Amino acid sequence: MAGGVIVDTSGGKEYPGKVTAYVIFASIVAAFGGLIFGYDIGISGGVTSMDSFLLDFFPSVYQKAKLDTSTNQYCKFDSALLTLFTSSLYLAALVASVCASTVTRVAGRKWSMFGGGVVFLGGALLNGAATNVSMLIIGRILLGVGVGFANQSMPVYLSEMAPARLRGMLNILFQLMITIGIVIANLINYGTAKIAGGWGWRVSLGLAGVPAIMITVGSLFLPDTPNSLIERGHPDEAKEMLKRIRGTEDVGAEYEDLVAASEEAKQIKHPWRNILEKRNRPPLTMSICIPFFQQLTGINVIMFYAPVLFKTIGFGDDASLMSAVITGLVNVVATFVSIIMVDRAGRRFLFLQGGTQMLACQIIVGALIGSVFGTTGEGEMTKVKAVFIVIAICFYVAAFAWSWGPLGWLVPSEVFPLEIRSAGQSMNVSVNMLFTFFIGQLFLKMLCTMKFGLFFFFGGWVIIMTIFVYMFVPETKGVPIEEMVLVWKQHWFWSKYISDEDTHVGKKPKA
Ligand code: BGC
Repeated sequence: MAGGVIVDTSGGKEYPGKVTAYVIFASIVAAFGGLIFGYDIGISGGVTSMDSFLLDFFPSVYQKAKLDTSTNQYCKFDSALLTLFTSSLYLAALVASVCASTVTRVAGRKWSMFGGGVVFLGGALLNGAATNVSMLIIGRILLGVGVGFANQSMPVYLSEMAPARLRGMLNILFQLMITIGIVIANLINYGTAKIAGGWGWRVSLGLAGVPAIMITVGSLFLPDTPNSLIERGHPDEAKEMLKRIRGTEDVGAEYEDLVAASEEAKQIKHPWRNILEKRNRPPLTMSICIPFFQQLTGINVIMFYAPVLFKTIGFGDDASLMSAVITGLVNVVATFVSIIMVDRAGRRFLFLQGGTQMLACQIIVGALIGSVFGTTGEGEMTKVKAVFIVIAICFYVAAFAWSWGPLGWLVPSEVFPLEIRSAGQSMNVSVNMLFTFFIGQLFLKMLCTMKFGLFFFFGGWVIIMTIFVYMFVPETKGVPIEEMVLVWKQHWFWSKYISDEDTHVGKKPKA
């Protein structure tokens, strides 16, 4: 998911080879996977704030929001059906990403991507052509299945194709593409909302078909990865492929390592049982807590519902969509900070700094909204306060974009030993999707019941997660992936889970 990126950041070993056209092509197709995911995150909020869309599918929400001006601002858009439109995608993605891990292994990464692209395209067409709520929700479910498949197979594909030294960076590039997808969706909504005749939402939803076609067609031209060919019993083809993608005949060392890794992986009959062993408790904890906390930052309240939120605080239609574009741009730009800083300042610094900044912003936003609407939800927002709220939200989004956003995917992907990396990654993706679903589904209800306190609620979670990082997340910057166990062994808390035997890493001498 957002890319379940499996990354080997091991700096220990370099194989000969160069960045070939194959690697570049693979990165482009994989980038469309990030785009598609981001596009889905960003598109629904704008669409659900369009009057024509609400009138066609959710007339009761429209009535409540428009006609009854005396109602509580906090509850304007509260509708379980409306949120189901947004959140159904993530539930489908959760189920699909679990199935996709088998398809990816048995049929290969390429066909998994192709399947994902086709289903995705079906979802985009169904949504663009929808005439009733069922078509909308079934379309979103198909998109979710596509996202599940794409997010499972594409990052695996990428990390197997990429030369080791580029893997860490590619991981965050995937997140960057997600943020670009979100902002493209925001911009498209800004444009389509202006289409007279009220069918702009069809364009917004249908345009998801463009990256879907790219993935579907692109995957047909993608070669299978050598790892996958070995796994499926074609060792000679695998070696030939490795020569082609590395652009050199000198692939003996890398090939031998691939075969050895595949042999080792085959011996693990029950990765899910293995993951529960005592020595795997620390990374398992990370793969559950980190995606959980990432969603409890409340980021998707902004990503999904920024236009609705901005309308709630009194912005007009245009200003709401424009504000969503601004927060989307901040998200993209701030992700670069992470790309530059992650291997310099380290993960912990970014987590702790980002958490503190997010907390400060949440307190400001909650206090400002509370000062205007109080607990009754009645009141008039002044221009100045509204502008301050948007600025505080931008600082909040920036902090997320250089901390919990990319690190929420990077850290869990770099702490598992090889034998259970794939299972650990599935856990990470599933927990993320599950809580993305909950936030998507519950946000409007929470806003209606908790009112401005909702921002303090998420702020409270940010305090907890920042303490969690401070106490339990070790620095993993620059640590070769196969030596991660030593990091746990030295940790004040996790050391008790690691026996001396467990630290005999690197059974083979290093090349
Ligand atoms: C998260 C998404 C979020 C996005 C925002 C990702 O890392 O997993 O839930 O919408 O960042 O940029």
